[in-house]
Amino acid sequence: MNTALVTGASSGFGQAICRKLIADGYKVIGVARRADKLQKLADELGHKFCPLTMDVTKKDAVESILLQLPKDFQPIDILVNNAGLALGLEPAYQADYNDWQTMIDTNIIGLVHLTHQILPSMVERNFGYIINLGSVAGTYAYKGGNVYGASKAFVKQFSANLRTDLLGKKVRVTNIEPGLCGGTEFSNVRFHGDDAQAAKVYQGVEYITAEDIANTVSWLVNTPSHFNVNSIEIMPVAQAQAGLSVYK
Ligand SMILES: NC(=O)c1ccc[n+]([C@@H]2O[C@H](COP(=O)([O-])OP(=O)(O)OC[C@H]3O[C@@H](n4cnc5c(N)ncnc54)[C@H](OP(=O)(O)O)[C@@H]3O)[C@@H](O)[C@H]2O)c1
Repeated sequence: MNTALVTGASSGFGQAICRKLIADGYKVIGVARRADKLQKLADELGHKFCPLTMDVTKKDAVESILLQLPKDFQPIDILVNNAGLALGLEPAYQADYNDWQTMIDTNIIGLVHLTHQILPSMVERNFGYIINLGSVAGTYAYKGGNVYGASKAFVKQFSANLRTDLLGKKVRVTNIEPGLCGGTEFSNVRFHGDDAQAAKVYQGVEYITAEDIANTVSWLVNTPSHFNVNSIEIMPVAQAQAGLSVYK
């Protein structure tokens, strides 16, 4: 394993994963829409980091940009499909349709674009690793989780189906399913920039950090090539599986 491509590299998990993989000795392509944030990371990480401004929801752009990668950063051995977001926490009957569309376009369609473009080369070389960022929301329903949870259920099942199609090939797939993680832009994005509301989510909670997720990715890619972690569910000690609520 030599080169990784990490989507959502301008913030949170993605940024921490880029830092950790570079420290581990990999070359890393970091993808996001905000060029200024990627450039700042490039200034920090140096020549082993290749910033790539790209919107994962745009199929044509993904295809053409990936075809023009610098030679030093080809082929891609590790794909970390991390770009994603939750928008809103309203019940389904009050949700904004555009929020739903954006979550589907990013969490599902974007992840599919990258995978469809990069997987064939891994299979051709019989070598590679796809790590998807799912969520506990893909397994456990919670109030207001509607389309976000469903999009992560797609990621979970797509990861399992990839494993099935890749049986007999030396290409690994893992779905990481985190619970409450703080210190990223996730809740600020969910609440459309309402930082006070976002801060409340983490008040008084010892949450998982982006570095915890980056350390998990580092562990995964450094496991032996015969070893596949199908999925890994991670929560802070302060969180547990959702209970079954009853309305009276
Ligand atoms: N934080 C949590 O509690 C938590 C828990 C479980 C799962 N997750 C999942 O983990 C992943 C990362 O979350 P995070 O907490 O690190 O969130 P974050 O800090 O908001 O980071 C999200 C990243 O995705 C990128 N992104 C969003 N839309 C994009 C697009 N259309 N094209 C390219 N990049 C795009 C953003 O960059 P630009 O805006 O610059 O494009 C940003 O770098 C997400 O998939 C999220 O669903 C998070």
